[in-house]
Amino acid sequence: MSVPSMTLFHNPASPFVRKVRVLLIETGQQDRVALLASMPSPVAPDAQLVQGNPVGKIPALRLADGSVVHDSRVILDYLDHQHVGNPLIPRDGSARWRRLTLASMADGIMDAAVLVRYESALRPVEKHWAPWLDEQRNKIRRTLAELEQDAIAELASHFDVASISVACALGYLDFRHPDMHWRADNPKLAAWYAEVGQRPSMLETQPPV
Ligand code: BEZ
Repeated sequence: MSVPSMTLFHNPASPFVRKVRVLLIETGQQDRVALLASMPSPVAPDAQLVQGNPVGKIPALRLADGSVVHDSRVILDYLDHQHVGNPLIPRDGSARWRRLTLASMADGIMDAAVLVRYESALRPVEKHWAPWLDEQRNKIRRTLAELEQDAIAELASHFDVASISVACALGYLDFRHPDMHWRADNPKLAAWYAEVGQRPSMLETQPPV
């Protein structure tokens, strides 16, 4: 086991953090990164986290030289350049743009799902903005429908940045939004997720109960 040279500011509930941790495990780099719990709230930044990361994003990765890499997309790209196995983000060509676009769809699901979580769990009920919440949920449903109809074979072909991102998005829906019942309208995604959810990288990074 090597001594960690990097530090990952993380929160085990964050699907964006989970993507990074899954990629670390899939590429055999988990021992290179120490985890540092960071619990910023939308109204109270974490003082340590905002050093070199003024937006206060998690995940953020502090490198050995003290510089900080963020956000999750950039961290994945960085870490994918730090191992000698097959890249999990295609380096060039149409595959790069397609796999990153699928990953962006997954990030969009996560963005909307986290916003719904913040609005519904943190804001007082009388301040909830119902049409906005509905549209966030619609974004999630539309994106799932497109993945179900057009992308399932691509996702199933190999476990890379696209599949990692979609798997973490689905895991977050199970974690925070079980009431959305995403499996009912997306049986192919459900079958695919039942399989990839059993990968050691996914099992080791499950959100807290
Ligand atoms: C959550 O508790 O759902 C959460 C925490 C940190 C980042 C994103 C989501």
